[in-house]
Amino acid sequence: MNFNDKMKFYAEYTQKKLGEYNRIDNDTIRQRTLIEAMNYSLEAGGKRIRPVLVYAFCEACGGDYKKVTAPACAIEMIHTFSLIHDDLPAMDNDDFRRGKPSCHKRFGEAEAILAGDALSILPFEIIANDNELSAGEKVKIISVLANASGKSGMVGGQMIDIENERLSDVDEENLRNMYKGKTGALIMASCVMGCIGAGADDFHIKKAEEYAYKLGLAFQIVDDILDVTSSSDILGKPVGSDEQENKTTFVTLYGVEKAKKIASEITNQALDILESFNDNEFLKKLTEMLLIRSF
Ligand code: IPE
Ligand code: IPE
Ligand code: MG
Ligand code: MG
Ligand code: MG
Repeated sequence: MNFNDKMKFYAEYTQKKLGEYNRIDNDTIRQRTLIEAMNYSLEAGGKRIRPVLVYAFCEACGGDYKKVTAPACAIEMIHTFSLIHDDLPAMDNDDFRRGKPSCHKRFGEAEAILAGDALSILPFEIIANDNELSAGEKVKIISVLANASGKSGMVGGQMIDIENERLSDVDEENLRNMYKGKTGALIMASCVMGCIGAGADDFHIKKAEEYAYKLGLAFQIVDDILDVTSSSDILGKPVGSDEQENKTTFVTLYGVEKAKKIASEITNQALDILESFNDNEFLKKLTEMLLIRSF
């Protein structure tokens, strides 16, 4: 399979499995609105980069992607929860996401908060109930996922992001630290969970972690650039959101050209780390693609 076909295959597989994990049936019929709100935001429109990283690292370490279906869907749920809450009026106040009205615009603010809450917890349920992973693998994966999602990871980074809106002296070190949390941590969990599912050794897990933080940093810098250079039609979310919310970004610190150069340098560092993996062709292409992406 060539690169584009593989990306499409992984995305469609994830979409199908997400639907299966979050179905309305006789037991959940009374939660119809909640499940609809969760699925509304989960549905196609996202790039599915994090599940793809779970599968790709599992395969790069000699495993079968199917074994890490639960962690792949779990990370997409946590990511989607982060996006639903990120768009709320109290946070970035954005009305569009993944090409359609944000969850709170479609279902209401309280409903969006609850959809995010449920999407932050279902991941742990589906991993705990999974039939593919061993008990030991599940515990390791749950530990990585919880740590990356919470106060030391994504949520912690989002808090720094919000606090920074009120500061006028945010520097590069602060930004790198904030991006490591809000964006890098879930990308790190994706790569590391893929390795764990393949039974990788500590050396490769460490390399996956190093790679992921580089990729996450470059990914967020590109996101900052697209916020000023792209259009909402292409991105599926508003542009100019960062300026409106008084965010300091690599673009406000250095301008678009220098931000691009920094993202490119960090991407090269990430590519170097991939040399530690034998079967790295797909991951290299993915890393390059994420730097030059237009959405
Ligand atoms: C958006 O993530 C939020 C950031 C961490 C920059 P993505 O760009 O991966 O969003 P989707 O999943 O494709 O919608
Ligand atoms: C992304 O930050 C981090 C999370 C959503 C956790 P942004 O606020 O830049 O993401 P977008 O641009 O709204 O997707
Ligand atoms: Mg934000
Ligand atoms: Mg935002
Ligand atoms: Mg952004």
